[in-house]
Amino acid sequence: MIRPGGRAIGTKAEHSRKDAAVVASPVLFRQLSPPSPPARIVALVSGSGTNLQALLDACADPAYGAAVVAVGADRPGILALKRAEDAGLPTFVLRVADFPDRAAWDRALRDEVAGYRPDLVVSAGYMKLLGQDFLEAFGGRTVNTHPALLPSFPGMHGARDALAYGVKITGCTLFAVAAGVDDGPIIAQEAVPVLEGDDEDTLHERIKNVERRMLVHHVGRMAREGWTIHTDRKVTIP
Ligand code: GRF
Repeated sequence: MIRPGGRAIGTKAEHSRKDAAVVASPVLFRQLSPPSPPARIVALVSGSGTNLQALLDACADPAYGAAVVAVGADRPGILALKRAEDAGLPTFVLRVADFPDRAAWDRALRDEVAGYRPDLVVSAGYMKLLGQDFLEAFGGRTVNTHPALLPSFPGMHGARDALAYGVKITGCTLFAVAAGVDDGPIIAQEAVPVLEGDDEDTLHERIKNVERRMLVHHVGRMAREGWTIHTDRKVTIP
């Protein structure tokens, strides 16, 4: 059972061979106690920040049960950071290029995020792969949203790749972040039809409309009720 604010249960060694595929991921087997509302969210962004904005708008209602306490980015000068500043939130930028290697960047990100004591980390259009140190600290409480129905079309261009493949239905996925590219136990998915005449932009925009709603709905439920990531990759919100 995973709920914001609690402790880890189980270790890799405690789990049987049938769980081998999933115990490799640090996101599993944590038990967290219910948040004292509002749950603290650190959001990570790289782009226009419409998912972040949807979250900020939701958090404005105390009944939502969560508050974004800081916003981090992998690059400066993006609209998402402006949205955070306009909301009066602390922001930080950590560029991979400013560190000797990716592992050092990952540890710096972990430490910066840790300073805000998040119950949940929401990767909202964040275009960087989180590393081992970060996930050891925040695995199980880090979620990401992807504009395709995972495990199909992971990577930077979920909408473009789905369109190029010729699928008739694609969608979006909210998942608990594990070590691979767009990998991790799935929290929620919603379908979006591909329409005749769609290009990458029209399709991605239609997906993003659904994605924002899905993100807000499920992050709110997680913040208010807690969540469980089971050893068979199922995620439940009580
Ligand atoms: C979203 O579709 C997200 O899934 C993808 O990039 C987009 C970010 O949009 N990784 P925004 O920055 O929240 O507007």
